[in-house]
Amino acid sequence: MESFLIKGGVPLHGEVQISGSKNAALPIMAATLLTDEPCVIRGIPDLSDTRFMAEILKSLGAEVKFQNGTLTVRAKKIRGYADYELVRKMRGSICIAGPLLARLNKTRISLPGGCVIGARPINLHLKGFESLGAKIKIEGGYVEASAKKLSGSTMFLGGRAGSTVLGTANVMMAATLADGVTVIESAACEPEIVDLANFLIEMGANMSGAGSPTITISGVKKLHGAEHEVIPDRIEAATFAIAAAATNGEIEIKNCRADHLRAVLDKLIDAGVSIQPRNGNLTVRRGKNLKAVDVTTLPYSGFPTDVQAQMTALLALAPGISIVTERIFESRFMHVSELARLGADIEIEGPSAIVKGGRPLSGAPVMASDLRASAALVIAGLAAKGATQVNRIYHLDRGYEKMDLKLRKLGARIQRIEEK
Ligand code: EPU
Repeated sequence: MESFLIKGGVPLHGEVQISGSKNAALPIMAATLLTDEPCVIRGIPDLSDTRFMAEILKSLGAEVKFQNGTLTVRAKKIRGYADYELVRKMRGSICIAGPLLARLNKTRISLPGGCVIGARPINLHLKGFESLGAKIKIEGGYVEASAKKLSGSTMFLGGRAGSTVLGTANVMMAATLADGVTVIESAACEPEIVDLANFLIEMGANMSGAGSPTITISGVKKLHGAEHEVIPDRIEAATFAIAAAATNGEIEIKNCRADHLRAVLDKLIDAGVSIQPRNGNLTVRRGKNLKAVDVTTLPYSGFPTDVQAQMTALLALAPGISIVTERIFESRFMHVSELARLGADIEIEGPSAIVKGGRPLSGAPVMASDLRASAALVIAGLAAKGATQVNRIYHLDRGYEKMDLKLRKLGARIQRIEEK
């Protein structure tokens, strides 16, 4: 297994190019199953998750080529069955269910199970499929959805924590080929949903409202091949912005959509960070002093749960008390005990982390537990005095393209080494 060895205390300076969005790419890759014609998707980040999704598409019978960020898929003849070994490795693979159900009127997929950030139920995905007329059977760890023909309907997809991103994506994709009109109420509004809708429209789908809580889809008989470029990764951009602030540096973030980052930029400004939009890029610079702020994660356009861990690492450096409340995934605080190993003073109280910030951090060996927790540890390691070894960085490689190379270009002393 590989680790990052970071010699901290160097302010980041220079330019960083943001990659295409992982969480936009995964459902868009799945959507290529909706047509037997070729699709070309550009800007797919080269990550273990996207490579894995390409393998899933192949295993379902599609012809797939993935080269230099461009994915070509032709799903001429496909099967509707995905077994445990496929789904287990990546929870995001659940978004193949909607396209398979739409195209074949039947799918059988292993239930994905929970993961380290909390329970990951799919009840809302299934509620949506049922509402479209599918019969659902759960047996032996598999969920089977089948229908003679899907029919459009009006449904409410809100759950206990609000909307569901992949649930909305799955139902949108299933509804594209259903008979009649589907209305999804309490739909996820994330930019990744808008990007998927744009791709589906390019494929010939008839839908409106993506980006708002009500999405309307009029089913069509057939979708055709299309070309698309995925949006920049807003979570990667936020991670680099926070890394610049944590190291007292100044960086220019290229290929980033500030309009997708409002909640994060707003909190960074409150925390004393200077943000300047310039020619479609963002310049991020630490102000004189960091300040404590309270942060609550919420569905878009609120503060994203995928930036909570990184923000917690930054707030550990801000003098005063910050309260970080996690409203999307209840156990998403695995980074806290590892940040404590670097000297951060953070206590968990129910859904909140109470961060007593301002203590200097010093390097130590730490263990990455999930993708965003790993990013938080890298940020803390970059800001800490001395050497930090972040172990198990395969989690990072799932969602950040060449993070070590990009950080080195910004002056960070970071190396990928074989874990000892
Ligand atoms: N939920 C239900 N029932 C469902 C589905 C979700 O109760 O059927 C709950 C979840 O337990 C959670 C909340 O609804 O409390 C939101 O979960 P959501 O379904 O929106 O999460 P997801 O679609 O499975 C995507 C991202 C995650 C990101 C979340 C929230 C992908 C591949 N994954 O997951 O990204 O945290 O939305 O924004 O798009 C990451 O990139 O690190 C990551 C975990």
